[in-house]
Amino acid sequence: MNKPNLEPGEVVVTREAIGRRMPMLAAEITASLDGNVDGLVIMPVLTGALVFAADLIRCFPQRLRIDLIAARSYGAGTHSQGPKLEGGVPVGVKDRHVLIVDDILDSGRTIQFLRQCVLDSGARSVRACVLLRKQLPQALATPCEFVGFEVPDLFVAGYGLDYDGWFRNLPDVVALRPGGQAHNIVR
Ligand code: IMP
Ligand code: MG
Repeated sequence: MNKPNLEPGEVVVTREAIGRRMPMLAAEITASLDGNVDGLVIMPVLTGALVFAADLIRCFPQRLRIDLIAARSYGAGTHSQGPKLEGGVPVGVKDRHVLIVDDILDSGRTIQFLRQCVLDSGARSVRACVLLRKQLPQALATPCEFVGFEVPDLFVAGYGLDYDGWFRNLPDVVALRPGGQAHNIVR
């Protein structure tokens, strides 16, 4: 595998800010469920939502289930080529309240597409939660019930988000910069 030609630059969202926001987000989600909290299906979108979902689920006291879904929209670049479902929608969503959990809202196509797939599979309700939403007209126009942080229109990585498979392990969300010009690198 080739090494990435972009490097971690400035921190956009710190691990501390993420840690503070997580219980608030879980409380917002619980409140919106209006009593239908037990039996919620949390559906993290692989692979980017892995780290976010792992932290978020531990802020819920109620009974819940986890069903993973795999969607892919980026190849080796930083421009979306449109979402594709890999492996279908889990069968356990029928008649359930489902919360789709994704890493970032960019063009909005992934969330729109997955919401429809889950509804078509017989879910009772579908809500969406993203860690980050880019300040882009198409992202802001996409229905999404829960947003962790608003971020500028930059390509970001870390805390589960990748660039061509790299940087998911960084604990903060960072902007990417051309190789060799990085500053404030998170080590
Ligand atoms: P959308 O379908 O354009 O909203 O893109 C959503 C998907 O693209 C997310 O699930 C991410 O996997 C990926 N993505 C969009 N922007 C970024 C970014 O800045 N960094 C890393 N991944 C991104
Ligand atoms: Mg992704």
